[in-house]
Amino acid sequence: MKKVLTIALMVLVCVWTSAQKADDLALTPPMGWNSWNTFGTNINEHLVKDIADAFVDLGLKDAGFEYLVLDDGWMAMERDENYNLVADPVKFPNGMKSVVDYVHSKGLKFGIYNCAGSKTCAGYPGSRGFEYQDAKLYAEWGVDFLKYDWCNTENLNAKGAYQTMRDALHATGRPIIFSICEWGDNEPWKWGEEMGHMWRVTGDIINCWDCTVGHGTWSSLGVWPIIKLRKDIRKHTGPGHWNDFDMMEVGNGMTVAEDRVHFAMWSMLASPLIMGNDLRSASKETIEILTNKEVIEVNQDKLGIQAYCHSDEGDIEIWAKPLNDGEWAFAFINMSDKAIDLNHDWAWHPVKDDLSNRSLEVNNKVYKVRDLYSHKDLGLTKTKLKGTIGAHDVLMLRLIPTE
Ligand code: GLA
Repeated sequence: MKKVLTIALMVLVCVWTSAQKADDLALTPPMGWNSWNTFGTNINEHLVKDIADAFVDLGLKDAGFEYLVLDDGWMAMERDENYNLVADPVKFPNGMKSVVDYVHSKGLKFGIYNCAGSKTCAGYPGSRGFEYQDAKLYAEWGVDFLKYDWCNTENLNAKGAYQTMRDALHATGRPIIFSICEWGDNEPWKWGEEMGHMWRVTGDIINCWDCTVGHGTWSSLGVWPIIKLRKDIRKHTGPGHWNDFDMMEVGNGMTVAEDRVHFAMWSMLASPLIMGNDLRSASKETIEILTNKEVIEVNQDKLGIQAYCHSDEGDIEIWAKPLNDGEWAFAFINMSDKAIDLNHDWAWHPVKDDLSNRSLEVNNKVYKVRDLYSHKDLGLTKTKLKGTIGAHDVLMLRLIPTE
């Protein structure tokens, strides 16, 4: 009897442990860098090392960025004779393990890319049918993050395919962030919490304020088309499971003001903050935006609530995000291409978030108003908020109760 009970218990434990993602990872939105937006498949060992060095030297690691993620293009075109994936021998002559070790030696974590289909989007070997073997290899290399794409997945069920890889990662025993990248086609926000730690919500981002560029079967989207398309799925995001608005285009060609808005909005939306620019040649302004700790603190707030659009009358949009301890973040965005004077009376604009059931109590409490880009205190909510917001620029604030 005792033996039967022990076996039953073991089976139960196996079933339980094989059906989970790594817990306690990504309790706040993951922060890192990904190679795709700037380099495509043109990646190699030197680049990874330079980027890892820049992470530390430019203060990005201190600001909270942690994961260095190699996207598509790292593999050789064929698996080896044992069907293991192989790093491209020309791009990575010392193999992938030595690259991972280097990244770890800088105090950073390492992420890698593959795809649920038979081939990746760029035509390299996909994981379909090799999920457990690939997961084991990543764990042996010391991988900490897997971005898992959705090309060449004919007849695959999305939830099932991501579940298989989730279980394969879990079976390795290594805590690995699982980043689902199926572009929102199968509404991953409805099932992603169980499967992974973050999920892309749209097709690929492109470095523009408000454009959509068609590529036949799919379109890439600028910053505002992405935000507008997915502003209403906020209830699905939270600690351990995030709506991923895509790798950022900060530093990739928009104006500095637009980059400020982009970074502010990804922070307000509690999106993972994954840089996508060439850190080696980044301008002072770009690094200043990316290392803005006051903005990052809004993104990393432990409640993990995605901001909502409080008002979008005229050219100014006001986005609001409840924070821990009764604090609030606001982003006043000038959507127009001319500077606008602001004259905002807090008392006249009641703020209530129905989703989190939190309100800004400006009539019972006084809040200190902190400008997160100029790093100045702007007074109290008792007085009107005045100032000028430049074209396509943002005034990002944190409101802190004074008593
Ligand atoms: C898809 C993803 C991108 C990138 C490329 C790589 O388009 O959405 O983020 O990973 O594949 O081929």
